[in-house]
Amino acid sequence: MDKLVIEGGKPLSGTIVIQGAKNAALPILAASLLAEGTTTIDSVPHLLDIDVMLNILRELGCRAEHTDDTVVLDTTSAHTSHVPENLMKQMRSSIFLMGPLLSRFGEAQVYQPGGCAIGERKIDLHLQGLQALGAEIEEVGNRIVCRANKLTGADIHLSFPSVGATENIMMAAVLAEGHTTLSNAAREPEIQDLQRFLNAMGAKIMGAGTDTITIEGVDRLTPCRYKVIPDRIVTGTVMVAAAATRGQVTLQETQPAHLSSLIHVMRRAGVQIVVDGDIIKVGSSARPKAVERIVTSPYPAFPTDLQSQIMVLLSLADGVSILKETIFEGRLKHVDELSRMGADIRVDMNAAFIRGVPRLYGATVEATDLRAGAALVIAGLAAQGRTTVEQVHHIDRGYDRIETMLTRLGARISRSSPVPQAPNL
Ligand code: EPZ
Repeated sequence: MDKLVIEGGKPLSGTIVIQGAKNAALPILAASLLAEGTTTIDSVPHLLDIDVMLNILRELGCRAEHTDDTVVLDTTSAHTSHVPENLMKQMRSSIFLMGPLLSRFGEAQVYQPGGCAIGERKIDLHLQGLQALGAEIEEVGNRIVCRANKLTGADIHLSFPSVGATENIMMAAVLAEGHTTLSNAAREPEIQDLQRFLNAMGAKIMGAGTDTITIEGVDRLTPCRYKVIPDRIVTGTVMVAAAATRGQVTLQETQPAHLSSLIHVMRRAGVQIVVDGDIIKVGSSARPKAVERIVTSPYPAFPTDLQSQIMVLLSLADGVSILKETIFEGRLKHVDELSRMGADIRVDMNAAFIRGVPRLYGATVEATDLRAGAALVIAGLAAQGRTTVEQVHHIDRGYDRIETMLTRLGARISRSSPVPQAPNL
């Protein structure tokens, strides 16, 4: 397993262009199945999760090429609706292939994606939405078979604004007969990107970005070329790293409006942030101030995907901050690792009480999930001494060569890969 070795204490500086958004590219790749022919998607980063999605699409019969940051996907020969279990287990988000497969083939065979380090990750809202559109769901063991001779528009209300369920329902409704209204929908920018992509293929969707999305079913969709939005979570991760190392970093090709809640919190912590079009400049030369209370909630509130990263900045702040995680029940596992680096954090239920310390100290720590791993990298950059981050594959799921990106900003970080053991002959 690869490791990242970081010599901390050096402020980040320089300019960086942000990668395309993983959480926009994944549903858009799945939605490409809705049109027969060749779809081209630009600004798709090279990530483990993207590789898994492309392998699933190939297993379904598509031809997929990922060159530079462009994916060319020919769905003409897609011939099966059965997503292999081994691939589903590699990436639970493949659950939102159900909608496109159901639309295209009238059937979708997937497997319970199961939970992960951050939580149970239920899919009941996905299944309820598909059933409302006319799908019959059969669960045999951990296999889920959805069938629908015809999908018919419906009024659907989500009891929680689930991102994945919103996306699955959108993709199942675009070719359904009639009108669908989805209320209490998720409002994330990635939902808006999916709407733009589907409408570019000829769908009739309105309302993404609000809590009510309306969809008029159409007869068919046609392939298109589309560019994915910048990754707001990678943008936020770099912003926090710049502040935690008291550096000066300029981020280009961003969408600052997608980060309003983070920018607000960082400014309350005393970080200088200047926004100019698609450029964000982050600077910090003093110890951050504590932020009394931050609560993660669905967009546009503070995102759960930046919770572990902002915790690193707050662990260095002057004062006590409270950080409450309300989206995933298992998303505070990085606290133990940060404590081993000298952070003073107490967890009570889903709230972390963070008493800032003057500095962190390098240690050998383990990434438990994607964003926790990114937070440990930030902690290593800010810490005094050497930090080794293990289980780096978690980080590679969402960051395109994170060590290359940070080295460009002056970080002293390198990847060590174990030497393959010679077979015992
Ligand atoms: C998406 O996951 C993102 N992943 C996550 O990013 C992100 O953290 C999450 O949205 C919240 O913003 C992708 O887009 C690929 P949810 P998703 O459905 O769709 C419960 C990252 O780090 N729930 O909004 O799975 C669920 O248990 C990843 O990039 C149900 O109860 O998120 C969770 O507690 C991590 N029933 C909450 O809702 C359901 O049917 C949020 O889940 C679905 C969800």
